[in-house]
Amino acid sequence: MLVKVRYIDVQPAMRSWLAENPPYTARIEEGDCMRAQAVGQIVASRHPDYPEGAHVHGMLGVQTYAMIRPGPTPPQQLTRLDLDLAPLPAHLSALGSSGMTAYFGLLDVGQMHADDTVVVSSAAGAVGSVAGQIAKLYGCRVVGIAGSADKCSYLVDELGFDAAVDYKQGDVYSALSRHCPDGIDLYFDNVGGELLDIAMLLLAKRARIVVSGMLSQYNATAPAAGPRFYGMLLLKHARMEGFLAADYQEHYAQARVTIAGWMREGKLRSREHVVDGLEAFPEAFPMLSDGRSFGKLLIRV
Ligand SMILES: NC(=O)c1ccc[n+]([C@@H]2O[C@H](COP(=O)([O-])OP(=O)(O)OC[C@H]3O[C@@H](n4cnc5c(N)ncnc54)[C@H](OP(=O)(O)O)[C@@H]3O)[C@@H](O)[C@H]2O)c1
Repeated sequence: MLVKVRYIDVQPAMRSWLAENPPYTARIEEGDCMRAQAVGQIVASRHPDYPEGAHVHGMLGVQTYAMIRPGPTPPQQLTRLDLDLAPLPAHLSALGSSGMTAYFGLLDVGQMHADDTVVVSSAAGAVGSVAGQIAKLYGCRVVGIAGSADKCSYLVDELGFDAAVDYKQGDVYSALSRHCPDGIDLYFDNVGGELLDIAMLLLAKRARIVVSGMLSQYNATAPAAGPRFYGMLLLKHARMEGFLAADYQEHYAQARVTIAGWMREGKLRSREHVVDGLEAFPEAFPMLSDGRSFGKLLIRV
């Protein structure tokens, strides 16, 4: 089939796909089409399950059209989208891999409870903003960490977080201790590095650290010098666990229905930061590292 690509998901993992030895997938070589999750509309098809006009999600790449023969695994794997659940771009954000990472990271890996104090790093980002909102929906006290006053106000005033800390304004340890007087029960970590070190010092007993990602390390030229305070795991009987959202693929459909229900009821917002034009990709990608992206970064083709 031929799919017209409509929105491309610009995500931090892309940086690792360009590295010498990518951790969990093949390297993108010079001259290859850049790998990317995207959503689009079928414009020509010889497959009975995928009629012309249907919307699909898949590894369609940073390109205008994708020629694809659907198969059981990526890059051939395609999912038909139900636009009654949410508008097309939301299928790459709250209903896409960002939402799935937040949902399964908190509920399964993090074993979140209603009385938890949950701290989320890169909280105004694609994964973090959904994670914080889900934690609020479950009754938790939620503190976000983000990199500007604007993002912090958005988290508190518009998404209902209990507090937000601007990590670029100095003493994160004092600010977090003030907002988490009984310690951190669940740290949803998108960033790693120094913020992870600080969160570790504030862990409550039986805390859980969910390792979603490590934004602070993707452009690093030297190996990370930490986490430095991992002895806190022992002292607090805490645990730290990494995961890939794709581990939960067979449960995505159910999670999408749940998240779409929250969106319909006005309980969860999916925020997309849309940049226009395929040719804008090289300029858009660094926005993930320098903090200019706000919500899920997408290219509209
Ligand atoms: N485990 C999985 O299966 C899975 C799936 C998808 C994504 N992830 C991971 O989830 C994390 C978030 O991904 P995302 O797509 O939602 O990206 P995102 O949070 O939207 O990323 C962009 C934002 O990250 C923040 N950031 C960048 N460098 C930073 C640094 N050094 N320290 C603190 N904040 C920094 C910036 O916001 P500020 O203005 O706040 O600095 C930037 O706007 C990533 O680590 C990603 O790899 C994991």
